[in-house]
Amino acid sequence: AANYPFYGSHQAGIVTPAQDRLHFAAFDMAGDAGRAELIELLQDWTVAAAAMTAGRDIGDFGAVSGNYDAPPEDTGEAQGLPESGLTITFGFGPALFRDAQGADRFGIAGRQPALLSRLPHFPGDMLDPASSDGELCIQACADDPQVAVHAIRNLTRIAFGRATLRWSQLGFGRTSSTSTAQATPRNLFGFKDGTANVKAEETATVNEQVWVQGGDGPAWLAGGSYLVARRIRMTIETWDRTILREQEAVFGRTKGEGAPLSGGTEFTEPDFEITGRGEKPLIADTAHVRLSHPSHNGGAALLRRGYNFVDGNDELGRLNAGLFFLSYQRSPEQFVTVQSQLAKNDALNEYIRHVGSALFAVPAGVRQGGYVGEALFA
Ligand code: HEM
Repeated sequence: AANYPFYGSHQAGIVTPAQDRLHFAAFDMAGDAGRAELIELLQDWTVAAAAMTAGRDIGDFGAVSGNYDAPPEDTGEAQGLPESGLTITFGFGPALFRDAQGADRFGIAGRQPALLSRLPHFPGDMLDPASSDGELCIQACADDPQVAVHAIRNLTRIAFGRATLRWSQLGFGRTSSTSTAQATPRNLFGFKDGTANVKAEETATVNEQVWVQGGDGPAWLAGGSYLVARRIRMTIETWDRTILREQEAVFGRTKGEGAPLSGGTEFTEPDFEITGRGEKPLIADTAHVRLSHPSHNGGAALLRRGYNFVDGNDELGRLNAGLFFLSYQRSPEQFVTVQSQLAKNDALNEYIRHVGSALFAVPAGVRQGGYVGEALFA
């Protein structure tokens, strides 16, 4: 089973080959917690995350070796399971720096990145506060859902009294590849997703589009990234009654191979100029790949790392299904640029609804003996 080191110059879980399963959680600090509690929490989370990603129980005595008359330190459901490629990635939301009343509870308001604020409202957004925002986030990815859930459960338990769970999302079936070694998976519309994603091997592009650089400011975030989370409902019943021609036109790619409608195979670059009958472009003006392509967005690209979800059904008997969109970028402006194009003109909008939104600053990696986000408090 895969195993990724927790310590390093960047946090794992970003350019790491996307695992199959996700448990994502957003937290708010307790009302009476201050700077000392926040730092202690990040220290405790760091130690526990390092243990779990190495396949160990948390705490000194783990799940079954501790005091017989005390609750076990580790909840125990990952005993005997391999690491399963577990990565645990931490981020800081805008409200951590300044709360709704403008208060600087943790003494870090002066260090809030200028670009870290709630994302703007996009046309069509129907955001539910119950699946939006948060002061802290943890993304746990693994190839075994039990391993990802164990991680979030134990980190939530460690936070008890200091931070509470605000919302969380389970994901199955990655909807992107982040390495050229991976086969392209499919989303719940049945299309290959992740073909033209930024890939770990493209180091120049990763540096230019994903990692915050030294000069970008603030200094504590260098080597980190910005994480956008969007919970996107898919009206799959409507989609499933849509003819294949329309389905392909919506994306601008074929459903089988994932090739651009301008011709070629999956990894052929789309040609947005080629026209067909009636001088119409083969990739429609409203096609998702045209509007999201860097050539349409001043060169902006995103490292997408989303997951499918099916959370039971809604009160009308429709599957509560969709795509939990996650993207990492050097600046939130990259996402805002692309989503502004999509929100206005994307043919896909007839079949989707954005219902949750959050933005986090993801600090650089952790050095051995340090803790996540340490530079923010130095
Ligand atoms: C490409 C699906 C939402 C950004 C694609 C592709 C598919 C797809 C099938 C083509 C294959 C690929 O290159 O990965 C979806 C679905 C969505 C969704 C089903 C919602 C439920 C979004 C959002 C954004 C986005 C919200 C960003 C704001 C992109 C980008 C590309 C892409 C940047 C690559 C374009 C290129 O360089 O060719 N998406 N997408 N997508 N999508 Fe989405």
